[in-house]
Amino acid sequence: MTETTDTIERSLVLVKPDGYARGLTGEVLRRVEAKGYRLVALRVLVPTRDQLVAHYAEHQGKPFYEPLLEFMSSGPVVAVLIEGHRCIEGFRALAGATDPTAALPGTIRGDLGRDWGVRVQQNIVHGSDSPESAARETTIWFPEHG
Ligand code: RTP
Ligand code: MG
Repeated sequence: MTETTDTIERSLVLVKPDGYARGLTGEVLRRVEAKGYRLVALRVLVPTRDQLVAHYAEHQGKPFYEPLLEFMSSGPVVAVLIEGHRCIEGFRALAGATDPTAALPGTIRGDLGRDWGVRVQQNIVHGSDSPESAARETTIWFPEHG
């Protein structure tokens, strides 16, 4: 079978501060690699406010916006650029639903996340939701790959 390249995508994944602090980075990366996606780039950093404002532009003005920025800047995150055919949709399936209480068992959020009774959902990972988002987010976290 000849492999076609037209569906090769990259997705920007973040292991959020809760996932990093709980020592779940390896488990997240294990699932990404076990699924068959390739790790293109990886970085541990404490996000700046500017990075988060750019990353979460679509959520500005929503009730959870300030708590979200506060949470996301509360400690190190691991930014990962992954690659593979349809990996944007594929990683979103691995991650599960936004609300970790409702996320199905078998998913990262369903298996590893829960509600902690705080003002914003702490759900371990972020994954780009479209090719346009992936391109935009890549320039924020990996300008050298943008
Ligand atoms: P993400 O962008 O982090 O991959 O998550 P998502 O697409 O599943 O969710 P999105 O709607 O983009 O929301 C971004 C993040 O904001 C937090 N959030 N908390 N009502 C809440 O408490 C609430 N709603 C959203 C979550 O951390 C969510 O992942
Ligand atoms: Mg989102």
